Amino acid sequence: MIIDSPLELIFPDLFYRLPAFAGCHDVFLKLEGFNVTGSIKIKTAVGLVENLERQGIAKPNKTVIVESSSGNLGLALSMVCAIKGYEFICVTDPNANRATVKGMELYGARVIVVKERDSAGGFLESRFKTINHILRSEPNAVWLNQYSNIANIKVHAEQTANEIACEFDQVDWVFVGAGTTGTLAGV
Ligand SMILES: Cc1ncc(COP(=O)(O)O)c(C=O)c1O
Repeated sequence: MIIDSPLELIFPDLFYRLPAFAGCHDVFLKLEGFNVTGSIKIKTAVGLVENLERQGIAKPNKTVIVESSSGNLGLALSMVCAIKGYEFICVTDPNANRATVKGMELYGARVIVVKERDSAGGFLESRFKTINHILRSEPNAVWLNQYSNIANIKVHAEQTANEIACEFDQVDWVFVGAGTTGTLAGV
């Protein structure tokens, strides 16, 4: 097998059978962790960036892509932006794992770690404040906004859901990890 792009390292049809895991029923784990950059968020990253490209908003070597991420989407976007020629700024917080932050930087991303806690005791509002500041000061900056971008749902409706439907004649239950709930909504 010879590949021409790291983006070919996304495995749509890889399931691991756990025999009789739930009573007499088999359970299947959809193994997204073998995808390049190590998570399902590589599909989200490609979906969000290509959605901007289809609208003619993103221009390689000009557009600065900005996103808030706890790690996996940031790492995936760092690679996608490096391949496609976009500058990328990831706004994250101290909970992001150091290896992931280092990985983003190795792909050429600028990583901003916000330190100030918001009124709920977390960091999300602080991340949004920082993004607003970047958008006001950088004219070529575009915020992907995985939290409310319909492209986040669409990519999983078109890909993840179909990948499951193609593999199984009948699906009784689906359990989905939820952050933005894009994967969950799409499936
Ligand atoms: C490994 C992994 N699985 C699942 C999710 C949840 O994805 P979503 O944001 O679509 O709910 C995330 C979110 O970052 C993730 O990193």
